[in-house]
Amino acid sequence: MSIPLLDLNRQYEKIKPEINEEIQKVLESQYFIMGDTVRDFEEEIREYIAANFAYGCASGSDALLLALMTIDLQPGDYVITSPFTFFATGGAISRLGGIPIFLDIDPETYNLDPEQLQLFLEGEHPIHAHTNPPKEKIKAVIPVHLYGQMADMDPIMELAKAHDLYVIEDAAQSIGAKYKGRSAGTIGDFGCFSFFPSKNLGAYGDAGLITVADEQLADKANILRLHGARPKYHHKIVGINSRLDALQAAVLSVKLKYLDEWSESRREIAQRYNSLFEEAGVAETNYDGTVEDNKVYLPVEREGAPEQDGRHIYHQYTIRLKDRDGLQEKLKAKGIGNSIYYPVSLHEQECFADIGYKSEDCPLSHQASKQLISLPIFPELTKEEQTKVVDVISEYLK
Ligand SMILES: Cc1ncc(COP(=O)(O)O)c(C=O)c1O
Repeated sequence: MSIPLLDLNRQYEKIKPEINEEIQKVLESQYFIMGDTVRDFEEEIREYIAANFAYGCASGSDALLLALMTIDLQPGDYVITSPFTFFATGGAISRLGGIPIFLDIDPETYNLDPEQLQLFLEGEHPIHAHTNPPKEKIKAVIPVHLYGQMADMDPIMELAKAHDLYVIEDAAQSIGAKYKGRSAGTIGDFGCFSFFPSKNLGAYGDAGLITVADEQLADKANILRLHGARPKYHHKIVGINSRLDALQAAVLSVKLKYLDEWSESRREIAQRYNSLFEEAGVAETNYDGTVEDNKVYLPVEREGAPEQDGRHIYHQYTIRLKDRDGLQEKLKAKGIGNSIYYPVSLHEQECFADIGYKSEDCPLSHQASKQLISLPIFPELTKEEQTKVVDVISEYLK
């Protein structure tokens, strides 16, 4: 029995008639760019997220780029973010000539550590010495809500306010996630979402969304995705072509109706993994900096814990262990899907070498890149499949 990391066919089989009907409607209309299908979806998703404004765009990467363009990021400006994220978070900053400042993560949630942010903004972080940015050039912070759990937003917002920074939430992996009752993408100035097919709400191609809190900034983001035009062919600012197309909007609109049900299934699957690892006697929950042999460190719900009025939506179920690479070989040999998000921390990427980071600058992110592995999780994963995954892992550890 081989077990995929993600099987989108199982999802499609369940919603095929609805999806096909909605796609057919777009084909019949021959209206592919903007139009009612896109506008209707934008309104549905805006309501779902409870955002003030929401605009579809071509990808999560473009959502980040549009947010940074909206705040008018200039070459030589600095933006603080997490090094433990998909490349797009740092790439968007660099594409505009900005300089990413990577600060280390919380080793249990893998999200930007607000204490690191405080140290840096107060000029007391060792990284400050070699980046040495003039205060007025630090423009924004991008907390990333990794794996489906939100970053600790209260202290981040407080620090951002005190230091006059925009907050751009990278919510690409966290649609429907909550922090103290508030949804990802509604706490900062912007929320950036990805509908990449493997995301919890996945399109049938590339697609993304930007949410905006302020009306004026929203208006700017809206026209930036349309080459900065208003009215058509009249350009006050230079934008890009980054629209959500009608076929994707039609697919997403069908899937959005199921999203909460799917998120709950993912939560149940995560809980079942936790119980199975505990029953197998290999589970650890308290990570104190050392990783014991033969143990699996389970995901920790902190900002995403229901007791805190939070919600982790388990885009990934990710464990930490000492011999991660050995386990990966074993899983491959047994036909069990898995993935490493992310094998190289952004502060160690070749393209950012000239910023002058060393591995030790973000040691916890570096360590996570060596010890984490993500296991199969999707709403249709069966109990038998989960048991098999845990059996193979416990057998390997013992
Ligand atoms: C954390 C994070 N940021 C940004 C992105 C970029 O989204 P997209 O692939 O839609 O461009 C992704 C998606 O892979 C992501 O996981």
